[in-house]
Amino acid sequence: MSNLNEQPRRSDKLHLNVFLANSGHHVAAWRHPDAQADASQDFDHFKRIAQLAERGKFDALFIADVVALWGHHIDALSRTARGEHFEPLTLLSALAAVTERIGLIATATTTYNEPYHIARKFASLDHISKGRAAWNLVTSVVSDEAWNFGRENHVEHADRYQRAEEFHDVVKGLWDSWDDDAFVRDKASGVYFNPDKLHVLNHKGEHFSVRGPLNVARSPQGHPVLVQAGASPAGRALAARVAEAIFVGHHDIEAAQQFYREIKEQAATFGRAPNDIKILPGITPFVGRTREEAQAQFDQLQALIDPVVGLRLLADTLGEDIDLAGYDIDGPLPDTPVGQRGSRRDQVIALARRENLSIRQLYLRLAGGNPAIGTAADIADIFEAWFQAYASDGFNVFFPVFPNALETFVEQVIPELQRRGLFRTDYEGTTLRDHLGLKRPVNRLTKEAVAV
Ligand SMILES: Cc1cc2nc3c(=O)[nH]c(=O)nc-3n(C[C@H](O)[C@H](O)[C@H](O)COP(=O)(O)O)c2cc1C
Repeated sequence: MSNLNEQPRRSDKLHLNVFLANSGHHVAAWRHPDAQADASQDFDHFKRIAQLAERGKFDALFIADVVALWGHHIDALSRTARGEHFEPLTLLSALAAVTERIGLIATATTTYNEPYHIARKFASLDHISKGRAAWNLVTSVVSDEAWNFGRENHVEHADRYQRAEEFHDVVKGLWDSWDDDAFVRDKASGVYFNPDKLHVLNHKGEHFSVRGPLNVARSPQGHPVLVQAGASPAGRALAARVAEAIFVGHHDIEAAQQFYREIKEQAATFGRAPNDIKILPGITPFVGRTREEAQAQFDQLQALIDPVVGLRLLADTLGEDIDLAGYDIDGPLPDTPVGQRGSRRDQVIALARRENLSIRQLYLRLAGGNPAIGTAADIADIFEAWFQAYASDGFNVFFPVFPNALETFVEQVIPELQRRGLFRTDYEGTTLRDHLGLKRPVNRLTKEAVAV
């Protein structure tokens, strides 16, 4: 493939998502003085965020999902807002009714669902929202989900991805059940739909037997947009073949550039063009009028982290063989051998040793993640650098506290990005495909497509 830097057709605009998360992404967000403690169960809270994001001209709202209560240690879990979550498709359907342009990305797992359900729900959301739906296809990172679906153990990683590949193909096939003009609804002749424009999938595969057709007309986008976040070789292979947007977790621009280049090269082996896939790393911005103000916002949230929660976070990273009970939280980590494999655990222990961090300082580092702290111009500089370096096509923005952090971003960072010509000043189209510059897929089951 030719050098990506020579690709003339990439949009000169960033793509930006708001990653929706109850009262905010920071683990202590719900305790912030300006946060609404019961935000998780208040639809009006999500409505405010969605409308604010639309005012900021964001491409889409994104909701992650785990189909289980996630966390085994009730003492820590009970001190976070992570015990309650609306079901994403339900919430986004309601948000579709109170917004007009912004895209709506819901997560759904291929491991504990059936393709007919998923095809039908996302096609419905695409109709309800007039072409704004997207599916974040995951294979379930959290093993506890198995216990809610009649299994004692999580499906193995390789099996999850094999199932996901076939699941995806069935869903796409079901979305092509009808030609775009199949429903004539002609009162005069009495014909509601044209039977020649209905296609029965008749899929029989290793994991699924699905006759079809779908009982929902082909949706405004043809297919809702497909989002993926696989990081393993199997996950990347699926993403390269089918994803139209990919969420990644890189903090380092070189690693992000490498992923960007490699995944688009891998996609080319499936006959796909670089612009068919948008790469969206996550970023957590703390924005202030001054750098000091931004830092103060970060420090304020960090100070709200309950030690029970912080210690659990650290224990989950270090593993059960390191027992921190009885150690002074403001003293050093107990002596722990560092392995040779460069695992996350080893990196964390090495960090504590290198910087002489106390147990408290170490869990604060983990909880704080990798924030971008600064003025609107500082944040815009980061966005611009990553975009210009072909490390990303935009960002999935993790706002630490809702709605404050989003409000500040819309008022300060968005205008700065617009001033630099890096972000739209208004929506140019009506569908999420329009916002992302993605083609509307042709129906592969139409008589014309099948004939060639
Ligand atoms: C921004 C982002 C959001 C994600 N959201 C979810 C989610 O909602 N549910 C889930 O099970 N996994 C989620 N994942 C995990 C990925 O789907 C994937 O499992 C993970 O990146 C590991 O890759 P692998 O499964 O190929 O090993 C997310 C990953 C990223 C980067």
